[in-house]
Amino acid sequence: MNKKTDNIHQDIEKVLIDSETINKKIKELGEKISCDYKGKNPVLIAILKGSVILLSDLLKAIDINCSIDFIEVSSYGENTESSGVVKLVMDLRESIENRHVLLIEDIVDTGLTMEYLRENLLTRHPASFKICSLLSKPDRRRVSIDLDYCGFEIPDDFVVGYGLDYNEKYRNLDYIGTLKKRIYKKNG
Ligand code: PRP
Repeated sequence: MNKKTDNIHQDIEKVLIDSETINKKIKELGEKISCDYKGKNPVLIAILKGSVILLSDLLKAIDINCSIDFIEVSSYGENTESSGVVKLVMDLRESIENRHVLLIEDIVDTGLTMEYLRENLLTRHPASFKICSLLSKPDRRRVSIDLDYCGFEIPDDFVVGYGLDYNEKYRNLDYIGTLKKRIYKKNG
Protein backbone atom coordinates (compact mmCIF):
# COMPACT_ATOMS: atom_id res chain seq x y z
CA MET A 1 0.00 0.00 0.00
CA ASN A 2 1.24 3.46 -0.92
CA LYS A 3 1.98 5.29 2.34
CA LYS A 4 1.18 8.67 0.78
CA THR A 5 -2.36 7.66 -0.19
CA ASP A 6 -3.07 5.61 2.96
CA ASN A 7 -5.22 8.20 4.72
CA ILE A 8 -8.88 7.44 5.33
CA HIS A 9 -9.97 11.09 5.54
CA GLN A 10 -9.06 11.81 1.92
CA ASP A 11 -11.70 9.34 0.68
CA ILE A 12 -14.52 11.27 2.39
CA GLU A 13 -16.77 13.49 0.28
CA LYS A 14 -18.68 15.18 3.09
CA VAL A 15 -18.85 15.01 6.88
CA LEU A 16 -22.51 14.42 7.80
CA ILE A 17 -22.17 14.29 11.59
CA ASP A 18 -18.99 15.49 13.25
CA SER A 19 -17.34 13.89 16.24
CA GLU A 20 -18.40 16.57 18.74
CA THR A 21 -22.07 16.22 17.73
CA ILE A 22 -21.88 12.43 18.06
CA ASN A 23 -20.26 12.65 21.50
CA LYS A 24 -22.91 15.08 22.75
CA LYS A 25 -25.71 12.81 21.52
CA ILE A 26 -24.14 9.74 23.14
CA LYS A 27 -23.94 11.56 26.45
CA GLU A 28 -27.67 12.38 26.20
CA LEU A 29 -28.55 8.79 25.27
CA GLY A 30 -26.44 7.47 28.16
CA GLU A 31 -28.20 9.75 30.65
CA LYS A 32 -31.64 8.72 29.39
CA ILE A 33 -30.77 5.01 29.45
CA SER A 34 -29.33 5.31 32.98
CA CYS A 35 -32.55 6.94 34.14
CA ASP A 36 -34.91 4.49 32.35
CA TYR A 37 -33.06 1.35 33.53
CA LYS A 38 -32.25 2.33 37.12
CA GLY A 39 -32.29 -0.83 39.32
CA LYS A 40 -32.86 -3.11 36.31
CA ASN A 41 -29.31 -4.26 35.51
CA PRO A 42 -29.89 -4.35 31.73
CA VAL A 43 -27.78 -6.29 29.25
CA LEU A 44 -26.56 -4.18 26.35
CA ILE A 45 -26.19 -6.34 23.25
CA ALA A 46 -23.93 -4.95 20.55
CA ILE A 47 -24.57 -6.10 17.01
CA LEU A 48 -21.18 -6.83 15.47
CA LYS A 49 -19.30 -5.48 13.92
CA GLY A 50 -20.66 -1.99 13.25
CA SER A 51 -21.82 -1.12 16.75
CA VAL A 52 -18.62 -1.77 18.74
CA ILE A 53 -17.59 1.88 18.80
CA LEU A 54 -21.07 3.00 19.82
CA LEU A 55 -21.22 0.37 22.57
CA SER A 56 -17.85 1.38 23.93
CA ASP A 57 -18.69 5.11 24.05
CA LEU A 58 -22.27 4.58 25.27
CA LEU A 59 -21.11 2.31 28.11
CA LYS A 60 -18.94 5.12 29.46
CA ALA A 61 -21.94 7.45 29.40
CA ILE A 62 -24.08 5.03 31.47
CA ASP A 63 -23.73 5.14 35.25
CA ILE A 64 -25.93 2.24 36.42
CA ASN A 65 -25.12 -1.48 36.73
CA CYS A 66 -25.33 -3.24 33.36
CA SER A 67 -23.64 -6.03 31.46
CA ILE A 68 -22.70 -6.51 27.81
CA ASP A 69 -22.90 -9.26 25.25
CA PHE A 70 -22.34 -9.54 21.50
CA ILE A 71 -24.17 -11.02 18.55
CA GLU A 72 -23.04 -10.97 14.93
CA VAL A 73 -25.25 -10.96 11.88
CA SER A 74 -24.46 -10.15 8.30
CA SER A 75 -26.52 -9.01 5.33
CA TYR A 76 -24.43 -6.56 3.33
CA GLY A 77 -21.34 -8.59 2.45
CA GLU A 78 -19.10 -6.40 0.30
CA ASN A 79 -21.96 -4.35 -1.16
CA THR A 80 -23.48 -0.98 -0.32
CA GLU A 81 -26.99 -2.49 -0.62
CA SER A 82 -28.40 -5.03 1.81
CA SER A 83 -28.84 -8.50 0.31
CA GLY A 84 -32.06 -8.82 2.32
CA VAL A 85 -30.93 -12.18 3.68
CA VAL A 86 -29.81 -11.94 7.29
CA LYS A 87 -27.39 -14.56 8.60
CA LEU A 88 -26.58 -15.26 12.26
CA VAL A 89 -22.78 -15.39 12.32
CA MET A 90 -22.14 -15.49 16.09
CA ASP A 91 -24.66 -15.96 18.90
CA LEU A 92 -24.79 -14.45 22.40
CA ARG A 93 -22.67 -15.99 25.12
CA GLU A 94 -25.22 -15.63 27.95
CA SER A 95 -28.93 -16.42 28.33
CA ILE A 96 -31.22 -13.37 28.17
CA GLU A 97 -34.20 -15.06 29.85
CA ASN A 98 -35.77 -12.57 32.30
CA ARG A 99 -33.12 -9.95 31.44
CA HIS A 100 -33.84 -6.41 30.32
CA VAL A 101 -32.34 -6.38 26.83
CA LEU A 102 -31.15 -3.23 25.09
CA LEU A 103 -30.00 -3.94 21.56
CA ILE A 104 -27.26 -1.57 20.37
CA GLU A 105 -27.08 -0.88 16.65
CA ASP A 106 -25.09 1.58 14.54
CA ILE A 107 -27.69 2.01 11.80
CA VAL A 108 -31.20 0.83 10.97
CA ASP A 109 -31.57 0.98 7.20
CA THR A 110 -34.13 -1.40 5.62
CA GLY A 111 -34.83 -2.72 9.14
CA LEU A 112 -34.39 -6.34 8.04
CA THR A 113 -31.46 -6.99 10.39
CA MET A 114 -33.39 -5.58 13.32
CA GLU A 115 -36.57 -7.49 12.46
CA TYR A 116 -34.60 -10.73 12.30
CA LEU A 117 -32.94 -10.05 15.66
CA ARG A 118 -36.14 -8.91 17.34
CA GLU A 119 -37.93 -12.11 16.33
CA ASN A 120 -34.98 -14.28 17.27
CA LEU A 121 -34.32 -12.67 20.67
CA LEU A 122 -37.96 -12.42 21.73
CA THR A 123 -38.25 -16.23 21.56
CA ARG A 124 -35.72 -16.31 24.43
CA HIS A 125 -38.17 -14.59 26.85
CA PRO A 126 -36.32 -11.44 27.94
CA ALA A 127 -37.99 -9.35 30.69
CA SER A 128 -38.07 -6.45 28.23
CA PHE A 129 -36.69 -5.62 24.80
CA LYS A 130 -35.66 -2.20 23.49
CA ILE A 131 -33.57 -0.89 20.63
CA CYS A 132 -30.97 1.87 20.58
CA SER A 133 -29.59 2.92 17.20
CA LEU A 134 -27.21 5.79 16.54
CA LEU A 135 -28.53 6.29 13.00
CA SER A 136 -31.79 5.65 11.18
CA LYS A 137 -32.65 6.00 7.51
CA PRO A 138 -36.47 6.15 7.58
CA ASP A 139 -36.74 6.51 3.76
CA ARG A 140 -35.19 3.08 3.27
CA ARG A 141 -37.38 1.11 5.66
CA ARG A 142 -38.90 -2.11 4.30
CA VAL A 143 -40.33 -3.28 7.64
CA SER A 144 -41.66 -1.26 10.54
CA ILE A 145 -39.22 -0.92 13.46
CA ASP A 146 -39.79 1.18 16.60
CA LEU A 147 -36.55 2.71 17.81
CA ASP A 148 -36.71 3.34 21.54
CA TYR A 149 -33.52 5.42 21.44
CA CYS A 150 -32.32 7.00 18.21
CA GLY A 151 -29.37 9.34 17.73
CA PHE A 152 -29.94 10.84 14.29
CA GLU A 153 -32.25 10.38 11.33
CA ILE A 154 -30.25 10.72 8.11
CA PRO A 155 -31.04 10.86 4.37
CA ASP A 156 -30.58 7.96 2.00
CA ASP A 157 -26.81 8.33 1.44
CA PHE A 158 -24.32 5.54 1.92
CA VAL A 159 -22.40 6.55 5.03
CA VAL A 160 -19.22 5.32 6.70
CA GLY A 161 -17.37 5.99 9.94
CA TYR A 162 -17.92 5.54 13.65
CA GLY A 163 -18.19 1.77 13.15
CA LEU A 164 -19.81 1.79 9.71
CA ASP A 165 -17.72 0.34 6.91
CA TYR A 166 -17.29 0.07 3.18
CA ASN A 167 -15.47 -3.17 2.35
CA GLU A 168 -14.42 -3.33 6.03
CA LYS A 169 -12.69 0.08 5.86
CA TYR A 170 -13.49 3.47 7.44
CA ARG A 171 -14.91 2.05 10.70
CA ASN A 172 -12.19 3.98 12.53
CA LEU A 173 -13.33 7.46 11.49
CA ASP A 174 -14.57 9.35 14.55
CA TYR A 175 -17.29 11.04 12.46
CA ILE A 176 -19.98 9.94 10.00
CA GLY A 177 -19.41 10.87 6.37
CA THR A 178 -20.14 9.99 2.76
CA LEU A 179 -17.54 8.45 0.48
CA LYS A 180 -16.17 9.98 -2.72
CA LYS A 181 -17.60 8.36 -5.84
CA ARG A 182 -14.20 7.27 -7.11
CA ILE A 183 -13.96 4.86 -4.18
CA TYR A 184 -17.10 3.02 -5.30
CA LYS A 185 -15.97 3.06 -8.91
CA LYS A 186 -12.53 1.68 -8.04
CA ASN A 187 -14.02 -1.22 -6.12
CA GLY A 188 -17.23 -1.66 -8.09
C1 PRP B 1 -25.09 -3.13 8.74
C2 PRP B 1 -25.39 -2.31 9.99
C3 PRP B 1 -26.67 -2.92 10.50
C4 PRP B 1 -27.38 -3.37 9.24
C5 PRP B 1 -28.47 -2.42 8.92
O1 PRP B 1 -24.45 -4.31 9.12
O2 PRP B 1 -24.34 -2.41 10.92
O3 PRP B 1 -26.43 -4.05 11.34
O4 PRP B 1 -26.39 -3.39 8.20
O5 PRP B 1 -29.09 -2.71 7.70
P1 PRP B 1 -30.60 -3.12 7.50
O6 PRP B 1 -31.45 -2.25 8.39
O7 PRP B 1 -30.85 -2.82 6.03
O8 PRP B 1 -30.75 -4.57 7.79
P2 PRP B 1 -23.58 -5.24 8.12
O9 PRP B 1 -24.42 -6.40 7.66
O10 PRP B 1 -22.99 -4.38 7.04
O11 PRP B 1 -22.45 -5.81 9.06
P3 PRP B 1 -21.34 -5.02 9.94
O12 PRP B 1 -22.07 -4.42 11.11
O13 PRP B 1 -20.39 -6.10 10.33
O14 PRP B 1 -20.70 -3.96 9.07
